[in-house]
Amino acid sequence: MKVFRSVKDLGNLELALKEAMEIKADRYKYQELGKNKTALLIFFNNSLRTRLSTQKAAMNLGMNVIVLDVNQGAWKLETERGVVMDGDKSEHLLEAIPVMASYCDIIGVRSFATFESREDDYNEKILNQFIQYSGKPVFFMESATVHPLQSFADLITIEEYKERKRPKVVLTWAPHPKALPQAVPNSFAEWMNAADVDFVVTHPEGYELDPEFVGNAKVEYDQMKAFEGADFIYAKNWSCPGVTRPEDYGKVLSKDMSWTVSERQMAVTNNAHFMHCLPVRRNMIVTDDVIESPRSLVIPEAANREISATVVLKRMLEALK
Ligand code: CP
Repeated sequence: MKVFRSVKDLGNLELALKEAMEIKADRYKYQELGKNKTALLIFFNNSLRTRLSTQKAAMNLGMNVIVLDVNQGAWKLETERGVVMDGDKSEHLLEAIPVMASYCDIIGVRSFATFESREDDYNEKILNQFIQYSGKPVFFMESATVHPLQSFADLITIEEYKERKRPKVVLTWAPHPKALPQAVPNSFAEWMNAADVDFVVTHPEGYELDPEFVGNAKVEYDQMKAFEGADFIYAKNWSCPGVTRPEDYGKVLSKDMSWTVSERQMAVTNNAHFMHCLPVRRNMIVTDDVIESPRSLVIPEAANREISATVVLKRMLEALK
């Protein structure tokens, strides 16, 4: 595997899940694979889970790990070609990428949407430059539009906790004070569409996800109706994806607190598990009672980030051979 950004990059999903379970049972099984190999993890944005779980995954495989916080200690990077660099940016990404690549074997990059241009965000302007100019395998640690390591961990968690063969999984929008990217819901929709689940998306009008990710998933604008009989509730805020009105891209169109996931909505589910990728704003996205309930999976889900990252790095190491 040379690039990891999509569920398609894993190939057979059933085999990938089997591999995840094998690694979960013995996470050091492949610790010889990464000997004398280096993973470089580059963060343009903050992280707790991705940073720690991916470092742990690399260590599980015997790799060396370098972590770079671009905004803390590195030169400020220019990302646009053709700019006269007379401002505060001292280095261009076009030099920085091959230099960084010369110190490692595999590169992970986190770079969120800027909301300055839908076209630039959805063309993955930063990540694609890493793919094009690094000459090294690149995995997405949350980009402008996708968060595949999270969705893989979410799917592993659903596999572990499902109580029927084909569970009903509901992705619900929930309110948030600030504009957040669509990376998590985009990837979650993409991965659920590829999995053996009955998938429903619910959100207020105007929050329609990009068809590239949501595909033919059922969209239900009535949140209570969507929750009926659900086995898993996956809550997340996202800003306007700009699908129906491009001029609204990245805007907060609603802060409707009736969408906060509470016992009221959970009561109509099939005793559903609650999921969220974290970090989460309590009593905006979800009430204290729901996130603290025995049916909440937010901690096992975060723990599975180590497993999804170990599978991905293992596959990338195998492709280096
Ligand atoms: N879920 C997730 O990616 O968490 P971090 O932003 O803390 O890495």
